[in-house]
Amino acid sequence: MPDPEELLYPTRAERVEDRRKERQQRKLVDEFFDHATLLAVGRLINRGQFQSVDYPISTGKEGGVFRASSPDGFRAVKIYRIGNTIFRHVPPYVIEWLRREVGAMGNTSRMIFAWTRREHTVLTQLREADVRVPQPFGHFRNVLVMDFIGVEGLPAPPMQEIVLQDPQAVFEDLTAQLKRMVVTAHLVHGDLSPYNVLVLEDRPVLIDVAQAIATDHPQARELLLRDTANFARYFRRLGVETSAKEFFEAAGGAELPSGTTT
Ligand SMILES: Nc1ncnc2c1ncn2[C@@H]1O[C@H](COP(=O)(O)OP(=O)(O)O)[C@@H](O)[C@H]1O
Ligand SMILES: [Mg+2]
Repeated sequence: MPDPEELLYPTRAERVEDRRKERQQRKLVDEFFDHATLLAVGRLINRGQFQSVDYPISTGKEGGVFRASSPDGFRAVKIYRIGNTIFRHVPPYVIEWLRREVGAMGNTSRMIFAWTRREHTVLTQLREADVRVPQPFGHFRNVLVMDFIGVEGLPAPPMQEIVLQDPQAVFEDLTAQLKRMVVTAHLVHGDLSPYNVLVLEDRPVLIDVAQAIATDHPQARELLLRDTANFARYFRRLGVETSAKEFFEAAGGAELPSGTTT
């Protein structure tokens, strides 16, 4: 018969564990939801974009992605951290674009807001071109709201984290998505990897598109070559017969406007 006191009062170990969890939770809240970000989240809630933020799907140095609930279903809310970290990883062509966008008076926050808006714009362009990406619903300051990619409330895993049932089918589907991206949307992803492709019901969904660039940019060819070389290796390891060159051409490389440098 357990001591009734123990049933009522948590043990010391439990109390320590509770406090650790609470600290962790508070750290997360402090890190992402500074006062300005909370106001931005509030603004999006007032606009009816979602009702509540449920839990973090992914947190990193540059930002976090959270599941949120709305009356029309789940949403993914991507919050960029206000700080310089994101600019350490973004390529020079994007920094150039950001500087032009925010002008001489632009500070870090403005650049991050421009970056958030850019992700929203690119997602819109890709949806219009029928490329499988999350539908964007809105953005405000450093917060982007998009369709939640998942099943029954559980987020779809990045390709990196799972074993593909049918690599050949995913390869062909991905090739078609990339080709539409180049031929119809006139964009190159620029950071394509198995981390930035989610697998939803055995089909690839592209994410993390803010750094995408126009196909007529001088670096577009080089970026598509890099994007496709990585993936060609990845699929070859899974037994798909392809080469970097073949995948590049099939994924829209053959259609890239000529005159861009290699
Ligand atoms: N729309 C979405 N639906 C479900 N999960 C998502 C969505 N967008 C992002 N995620 C999850 O969040 C992670 C990080 O998102 P990503 O856009 O790649 O940002 P980061 O800049 O941190 O790489 C992804 O790997 C994925 O697990
Ligand atoms: Mg990513």
